[in-house]
Amino acid sequence: MTKNIAVVAVGQTKFGELWEHSLRDIVIDAGNSCFNDANTQMSGFERKIIDNLVVGNMGGGSFVNQGHLGPLVSSALGLGNIPAVRCEGACASSALAFRHALHTMQAGKSHVSMVLGVEKMTDVDPSRALNILMEAGDFESESMAGLTFAGLYALMARKHMHDFGTTREQLAMISVTNHKNGKQNPLAQFRSETTVDTILKSSMIADPLALMDCSPITDGGAAIILMTEDAVKKYAIKNPVWIAASACGTDNIIYHQRKSLTELQATLSAMKQIKEQGISEKDINFLEVHDCFSINELVALEDLGFCKKGQGGKFVENNEIALNGSIPTNTTGGLKSIGHPVGATGARQIVDAAKQLRGDSINQLKTPQNGLCLNIGGIGSTAVIHVLSKNKPDVR
Ligand code: COA
Repeated sequence: MTKNIAVVAVGQTKFGELWEHSLRDIVIDAGNSCFNDANTQMSGFERKIIDNLVVGNMGGGSFVNQGHLGPLVSSALGLGNIPAVRCEGACASSALAFRHALHTMQAGKSHVSMVLGVEKMTDVDPSRALNILMEAGDFESESMAGLTFAGLYALMARKHMHDFGTTREQLAMISVTNHKNGKQNPLAQFRSETTVDTILKSSMIADPLALMDCSPITDGGAAIILMTEDAVKKYAIKNPVWIAASACGTDNIIYHQRKSLTELQATLSAMKQIKEQGISEKDINFLEVHDCFSINELVALEDLGFCKKGQGGKFVENNEIALNGSIPTNTTGGLKSIGHPVGATGARQIVDAAKQLRGDSINQLKTPQNGLCLNIGGIGSTAVIHVLSKNKPDVR
């Protein structure tokens, strides 16, 4: 890190079908939840110290006819006439927004930035929602052929099963673990535990992925306030969480033209960049990964280096991702249980990772030092990784 930057306040709305809330309502709820975060130890967070805003959103224009979200969010939250932009990178929009804010701060153009991810998906009917989501795929070769993201990830799952003997039961165990972790999460869309049997018997969406292998359609927002080290000192922040590393990789948007269908080059590239920043998988105590479909979490475990290629199924079966496993993953429920408002998910992952490192997670691990968040856009066309740490990067 060229300049130390910390996460100092986090917040999110409830995730779910928020029919009574507009996009603007969700923005205000997420912002207020962040301003009221007890961690800032300030009597009433002074909004006027925020000098930069980056909004993560995938499809406001298509879902609710609302674009130009930079100024919309800034005025809804009373942030004044500060610089405000929107970042779009499909389901990775708000991790990209976070990375954009980080770079702006490292360039000396901001001391206190806010990142807010938001998506309002349930105002359109489900088939329209799937069409909008496919704007993140290749229009000519995928959307026009009738593919959905469930269909694309089903191809990945089928190929993984064919090449490595991965089973539907092993995929289902990922959803079982995430639902178990999400049971305690008051902000999650689905708070019920489930079983492998229930998952296997749930309706088939795109063979071999059934309903319970899929993240749902969700409304929600999440917000984060970042400060430079100088601002952390100035405002006497007691429990900052430091950004230890940041990376982004991309790949061919056309899935069938890729080198491999069972590993994501975007994730491999991003993880290589993280290693170049001095952090390896051995330094990581927990993960927030992108389980939009169960196969994506399994492939992430392999691509990030927590198990060998092809061994993800066995790794999950051995309970390595459980809260008491070797690498607790999606400790608050993941996209499967919490829900997946696409433009908000990357920010929500950082909110939950920061709480885990501060010590106020709903499923608190014992003294974690470093957590890794992987936010994926589309079928792995974009991968964004952030490593958050209890320790300032230069004293790691
Ligand atoms: N997990 C668990 N339960 C779910 C669910 C999910 N993913 N999606 C819906 N449900 C539940 C609903 O709550 C509802 O329960 P109820 O009957 O008790 O009210 C029931 O299943 C049927 O819901 P419905 O909304 O009719 O489902 P659907 O068939 O329209 O949609 C999916 C289900 C899986 C197709 C849809 O959620 C989906 O496409 N998810 C993936 C979204 C996506 O692609 N995101 C981007 C990732 S890259």
